[in-house]
Amino acid sequence: MSVGEGELVQLIEPGRVHRRVYTDPAIFDLEMARIFGTAWIYVGHESQVKNPGDYFCTRIGRKPVIMVRGPDGEVRVIHNQCAHRGAMVVALEQGNAPEFQCCYHGWTYHLDGRLKAVPLQHGYPREFDPADPKTSMLQVPRVESYRGFVFASEAPDGPDLTDSLGYMATSLDDMVDRAPDGEIEVAGGVFKHTYDGNWKLYFENLCDAAHPLFTHRSSIEAAQQQSDAAHSDGTGEIALRQMRQNGAPYSFWESQVGIWTYPNGHSFLGDYHDDAKLVAAMNDPTFRDYRGALEAKKGKARTDEVLAVRRWNSTIYPNISFMSQFQQLRVVHPIAVDRTVVHAYTFRLKGAPERMFRNAISFANTVNGTGSLVLTDDLEIYNRIGIGLASEGTEWLQVGRGFTSDVPDAHGGRRGKNSTSEVYIRNMLDAWLAYMTNGRAAQAAA
Ligand code: FES
Ligand SMILES: [Fe+2]
Repeated sequence: MSVGEGELVQLIEPGRVHRRVYTDPAIFDLEMARIFGTAWIYVGHESQVKNPGDYFCTRIGRKPVIMVRGPDGEVRVIHNQCAHRGAMVVALEQGNAPEFQCCYHGWTYHLDGRLKAVPLQHGYPREFDPADPKTSMLQVPRVESYRGFVFASEAPDGPDLTDSLGYMATSLDDMVDRAPDGEIEVAGGVFKHTYDGNWKLYFENLCDAAHPLFTHRSSIEAAQQQSDAAHSDGTGEIALRQMRQNGAPYSFWESQVGIWTYPNGHSFLGDYHDDAKLVAAMNDPTFRDYRGALEAKKGKARTDEVLAVRRWNSTIYPNISFMSQFQQLRVVHPIAVDRTVVHAYTFRLKGAPERMFRNAISFANTVNGTGSLVLTDDLEIYNRIGIGLASEGTEWLQVGRGFTSDVPDAHGGRRGKNSTSEVYIRNMLDAWLAYMTNGRAAQAAA
């Protein structure tokens, strides 16, 4: 069943959204074409393909793709699909290869996707031409990197990456600027989790300052009963403080945190456990050493400036969320209208004490790990929303909190005057509608 533009426009009203946006398979198919098929999609970080021949497999929407560094040093993104009979060519998640070979009939490709050799070529019709681009693993037409973060767009034309990021580029800057050597790298493993619900639910939860008190109550109470002394190895304290801080009263969430949104669906939530609370106040010697390393490289004034940026979750719509203070980045993969997979990566700050990386890993275990006491609560919520929305009941979902009090932001966006405003959801839905109608339904933010 196809979905008309007029129908799409009717699914979003001021302060509310129809449940079909999250449950209709035809809408999901259209999202894959009009959002994931046109927007700048984060594919990976340059540090994952440091050397020629290094590759990393991921997806743009549902399409499997490979980010690969060629012998010429250039990073490309090619479709992970054989031009012969369509098999996925590379099955490993990452590695190094001089060429790609399909394991079905042995077609072999250069690292830029061009066909290199075909067994039994004499058997093909005379007009079969291995040099024809149609026999390649197709390149994604546009690939751009912003400070090491590689994005790709399936649209041959459109706004460039920095235009599309706008002010949100400053959140990526914050990821990198925290490294004393000015560089970060993906390190450690990857956490993967999945839930039976729509991909948009994930982003709608990450900046939701109204949910921790309820959703995370069990870990808040468990953490409140523990003494710091029992977890004085440092890493345990990070988990304890993270969980306890989720129990901050509404007055704190409403006034102290902050929520900012920008064009194209991007947003960030202000900090609710800034460095001063979570690390420095513990008189953590690691943090002292880290600050020292930053000052040695950047000077005191710049160090103060870098550490003064305190953001919690930054969302770059439509597929990543990251936390600069703990070097976490989550990539959201929509699988089906009611199935989503999330991959969470940790970065190492080059030039920082190794214990900073250990802290980041400890934090990853607390918020992104498969055994996390926090993440499991959120996954349960996504599943329950999935079940609730799939049933016939409430047709319209309320996303109007803060609607009348949101205020313009100095950098061209809108922010919640009240930090528990659902402005970030409305902002994503505005972007959603703009993408889904090929820009014809103007962003309400404009
Ligand atoms: S499908 Fe790849 S070689 Fe046949
Ligand atoms: Fe949560």
